[in-house]
Amino acid sequence: MLKRPIGVFDSGIGGLSVLKALRAELPFEDFVYVADSGHAPYGEREASHVLQRSRLITGHLRAQHQISALVIACNTATAAAIHWLRQEHPGLPIIGVEPALKPAVLQSQTKRIGVMATRGTLASAKFRALLESLAGQADFICQPCDGLADAIEHDDTPKIRALCADYTGAIGQFGINKGQVDTLVLGCTHYPFVRDILANAVGPEVQLIDNGEPVARQTRRMLASLATSDQAGECVLLSTGDPKNLQLAAHRWLKLDIPATALTL
Ligand code: DGL
Repeated sequence: MLKRPIGVFDSGIGGLSVLKALRAELPFEDFVYVADSGHAPYGEREASHVLQRSRLITGHLRAQHQISALVIACNTATAAAIHWLRQEHPGLPIIGVEPALKPAVLQSQTKRIGVMATRGTLASAKFRALLESLAGQADFICQPCDGLADAIEHDDTPKIRALCADYTGAIGQFGINKGQVDTLVLGCTHYPFVRDILANAVGPEVQLIDNGEPVARQTRRMLASLATSDQAGECVLLSTGDPKNLQLAAHRWLKLDIPATALTL
């Protein structure tokens, strides 16, 4: 068993994009990653379902793995549950992810910004508050991307290409000239894994922004203490769906060659 690992969860394999940044930022920490693939996608389900799953996973990570901190590596679950989880677990540092609108405003020249995220994230009160806090600073074109996380989850390349083309097409004209969208926010942790396909769809001048690295830095700041070992940290991978899928994704994207285990929750 790992010693006081950091718990990380997502609806599926998307949160591996955050785990990758966490391992780079905190190389000596241990991590337990839960992919809730048996109950995904979160983005097209009721917020109450996402909250209930987030509560169960957090309870499991605390009781069975004695986690020292929790990273909600999912925009949809952060929007639906972080507020409640913080209230219910006052002693536990909890870090979430939200679409990187603020960095996008700073980086955009045309001040027209595309936001790709799940329906659940875009409909949440948390996201609306974020948008309102930036009112007047840029135009945001928000695109719910039904089916995209699921296609990434199943590594269905033809479907991923078709959906990326449809959704970027719906956002509008990309480019760096006045009136064009010059910045695209990847507001779901699954999307960084199809960055190349998206970059192809919007062109080389457009900046694609995700949140993995800032979240990893914030996690480092929020930890009460850091591991002192000089040995690389270890990871445990758990999935409520098919563990093979998680294992393959961890191998493909993180070069992490460890088995994933089935988790019933
Ligand atoms: N990866 C998740 C997010 O960041 C959601 C994917 C899903 O719909 O399950 O929002």
